[in-house]
Amino acid sequence: MKTIENLVTSQNYDLHTRLDSLVGRAVDMHRELGLTVLNVVCAMIFGHQYSINDAEFQQLEKSTTLFVRGFEYDSFIDVFPILRYLPNRRIKTLMYALSLRNPIVKKHLENHRKDFTESRHENKDLCHNLLRALADSIADGSVQKDYLTDDCLVAILDDMIGAGSETTLTVLRWSVVYLVNHPEVQEKCYEEIINVIGENQMITLEHRGSLPYCEAFIHETMRMSSIAPMAVPHKTTCNTSIGGYAIKKNTQVIFNLYALHRNPVEWSQPFTFDPSRFLDNNGKLHPPGYHRAYLPFSAGRRICLAESLAKMELFLVITGLIKKYRFVQADNEPLPSMIGVPGLFLGPKAHKVKIEKRPCR
Ligand code: HEM
Repeated sequence: MKTIENLVTSQNYDLHTRLDSLVGRAVDMHRELGLTVLNVVCAMIFGHQYSINDAEFQQLEKSTTLFVRGFEYDSFIDVFPILRYLPNRRIKTLMYALSLRNPIVKKHLENHRKDFTESRHENKDLCHNLLRALADSIADGSVQKDYLTDDCLVAILDDMIGAGSETTLTVLRWSVVYLVNHPEVQEKCYEEIINVIGENQMITLEHRGSLPYCEAFIHETMRMSSIAPMAVPHKTTCNTSIGGYAIKKNTQVIFNLYALHRNPVEWSQPFTFDPSRFLDNNGKLHPPGYHRAYLPFSAGRRICLAESLAKMELFLVITGLIKKYRFVQADNEPLPSMIGVPGLFLGPKAHKVKIEKRPCR
């Protein structure tokens, strides 16, 4: 299987080719970035990168868009869950989205089953590794085999498409919003890239340690946007306590990551976008854990399982975009709003920006 770096690099190439044809125009980056991220997830899960004109890929794209729509925030079901048993437009949309996605997921799973035996020991994509986990658990009689039913495998793959595409996409969209609203930050990132990497060399993961300001920009984008403001709800499995507060077994517990990221006790001027808060006096990135109130991927046993993958992807896509383009306010369009719209994730309002190609120096 290709490394994540190779996957993202090849998707970056396609993204840049598409953006080149949009230079000078007012562009909504949502779809372009969405195609990139979805294709990275497909490659990881199915071991297959699509051409964006492929009908199957377009069906996956449609299902992802509808899935997000089905989670729009103003749903009464969030307040009165009992209403989910009544006919409901949102649930209908979600079911329709899954009906578009599931046959594709099932098809890939079946195709993987066909050549599983010969390639069993190879480290391939997620489909393959799930089948291997199933085969191993059958062989050693472990309990996992009871959970890895066909329905469960499809549900895991479905979840990964949802969790792996919309999250990263939302952060990428925010990064464009902040670049346009803070041109001085955009120029600083660009200058850092040009000074460290040069114009002609391609950015790789090895450059991560050498581009602290760009990394700080990504951190600050994730702090300010807090795309998963309440993470995912959890439930206590025993009587416990946090910070001296007793919490009974079976209580729903919600992390307020949004409040954490804007807590004035933890952050100076928490509402100001300032990447340099993640840097020390020598311009070096603070070590992981330095900002105890910075948890964009949540914390604990159920912390985002793809944190390191997401960070790699964000680094390669964002620095690749900054190196090649300048994003500015589009003619006759307002500046992209920095106020988020709640939904499945806290994303930016729909907006258009102008893409300029960086001149060769
Ligand atoms: C910048 C991108 C991402 C952010 C900010 C993010 C954030 C989060 C957060 C806050 C959670 C909830 C943790 C909790 O329950 O407390 C989560 C869970 C999860 N994320 Fe991510 N995520 C990102 C990218 C991804 C990607 C790329 C994938 C998969 C390829 C992924 C897969 C998952 C899964 C499967 C869970 C559930 C984990 C579990 O319940 O054990 N995420 N993520």
